[in-house]
Amino acid sequence: MEVFEAISARKSIRRYKEDHVSMDLLEYVLDAARLAPSWHNKQGWFFIVLTDESRKLLAGALDDTNPCKNALTQAPVSIILCADPEQSGNCEGKSYYLVDAACAMENLMLAAIEKGLGTCWVAGDLNEGFVKKTYGIPDNIRVVAISPMGYPAYQPKPRPRKSIQEIAFLNGWGKQF
Ligand SMILES: Cc1cc2nc3c(=O)[nH]c(=O)nc-3n(C[C@H](O)[C@H](O)[C@H](O)COP(=O)(O)O)c2cc1C
Repeated sequence: MEVFEAISARKSIRRYKEDHVSMDLLEYVLDAARLAPSWHNKQGWFFIVLTDESRKLLAGALDDTNPCKNALTQAPVSIILCADPEQSGNCEGKSYYLVDAACAMENLMLAAIEKGLGTCWVAGDLNEGFVKKTYGIPDNIRVVAISPMGYPAYQPKPRPRKSIQEIAFLNGWGKQF
């Protein structure tokens, strides 16, 4: 699969089949994650991969209104994306742990697509304290996002995106691309 094909095929998946996801595939997507860029190559990211029944507890971290809540009890795998802010570092008032973790997670999500697996970045109304307590995550570590992972039970329609002209300038701010 070409990279752009994976990028355009990736969509947030909120319903999953029960089908098992092999350890080989889990290693494959984690390998993609660990190859991501990070500030000063600090790699301050961590992934908790949940494959046992404990994964279903993750749904308790979300409000009932979160559209991905049920997916966390359906999907055969869930991933908790964590980061160590101290390890990732800061520069000119910018804390890079969110950036580093997001780069790694995007790699993971694209590698998943290549293997037919769906994911959904979930961070809205995430009860971080609940996730940390439930899975024994140390105080100094932040939970950046969670995601179910498994074989999609449907194919969602693509969500709208801004045009290139709305988001890109050529040779200076405000200059039409
Ligand atoms: C930071 C962030 C937080 C998100 N939080 C949630 C969430 O809590 N629940 C959910 O169902 N989707 C969540 N999403 C997924 C977005 O809704 C989704 O990526 C967006 O609507 C575009 O759709 P697509 O991923 O299918 O292209 C989140 C995405 C990001 C990047």
